[in-house]
Amino acid sequence: MKSSTQVFKIGTGNLEEVIKTAAQFIKKGGTVAFPTETVYGLGADALNPDAVRKVFKAKGRPLDNPLIVHIADQEQLGMVAMEVPDSAHVLMDAFWPGPLTLIFKRKDIVPDVITCGLDTVAVRMPDNPIALGLIKEAGTPIAAPSANISGRPSPTTAEHVIADLSGRIDVVIDGGAVRVGVESTVVDMTPEIPVLLRPGRVSIDEIREYVGKVLVGYTDRQAGAGEAVRSPGLKYTHYSPETRLVLVSGNSSAVVDKISELAREYRDRNIRVGLLVTDETAGTEEMAEYLLADGVFLLGSRYDAYEIASNLFAGLRYLDLEDVDVIIADGSIGIDGIGAAVMNRLKKAADELIEVN
Ligand code: TXA
Ligand code: MG
Repeated sequence: MKSSTQVFKIGTGNLEEVIKTAAQFIKKGGTVAFPTETVYGLGADALNPDAVRKVFKAKGRPLDNPLIVHIADQEQLGMVAMEVPDSAHVLMDAFWPGPLTLIFKRKDIVPDVITCGLDTVAVRMPDNPIALGLIKEAGTPIAAPSANISGRPSPTTAEHVIADLSGRIDVVIDGGAVRVGVESTVVDMTPEIPVLLRPGRVSIDEIREYVGKVLVGYTDRQAGAGEAVRSPGLKYTHYSPETRLVLVSGNSSAVVDKISELAREYRDRNIRVGLLVTDETAGTEEMAEYLLADGVFLLGSRYDAYEIASNLFAGLRYLDLEDVDVIIADGSIGIDGIGAAVMNRLKKAADELIEVN
């Protein structure tokens, strides 16, 4: 275990210097947390199995959940991916650099520890100057899962990374809050028809515009024990605060009614309530008396899923630190565009799902 973690904050004029220093750690087989446009990643030299093992260890990540390889140019794609179909080139032209991860047949150079023995590798080119600069300066593709303790909400600020991983990794590059807030969309390009394995910032409709048919290969619930899954990550608990989370989803007025009813019931039983709610829900008359709940976090407008995505993980972490016994989450969010990713993360985080209409 590392005893101390160095934090480098990006300020005016120090970007190059910070990237140079951090890249030295990557080259020497160390671990560096860095911002991407989606969430913070915990990076190591993708071609160095010992370095990659440190990432699994620091996160407490199960050894059968493979990592995404982050690249800065097409040459690095050629290093790790075997067959890149035309449809993938179309998607890369449209969305790279950006929040889209593509799965290809792997080359032998990719260590088994990254792919967990699969014959495929997940690759993405992040849309963030710090991430791209770090990969270029290190001169190697960087394997990076989200920089959280396994199972916890992904980090959207350097403070979240430090809260989870301080003392367990070499470096954190603090580049401020990320832009997107939920992880990249993952698409398996190895079958004839591409398969969406994780919803993200790039929506299934956007992908279909470029490549036609796309199959859906994920569910919003946890896969059961022993159930076969295409993407190993699907079977683990995710995004969960330690506090019990009850998600209420359905049409907005029914959701507001149910949340206020639950809040009253809990309060009558002296159970301390945290509320993770949209601005519209918070603004209703029914909710007025509960806004003095023991903890309240406003997610943003239910009509702006991008805003909600950027606040979601910070909200889960905030309420987890408040002195509450239960978190009631507002699921009155449409599943268009990035909304599908927001509802997917909320459902995976939930201990209990109440659907109302
Ligand atoms: O936005 C993101 O993708 C962030 C930033 C840091 O880039 N990274 C991220 O990594 O979310 P992670 O490790 O938390 O999620 C990677 C997902 C997991 O669900 C994993 O199972 C899946 O990608 N995955 C990785 N390699 C795969 C493969 N060869 N086949 C199928 N799924 C794979
Ligand atoms: Mg993760």
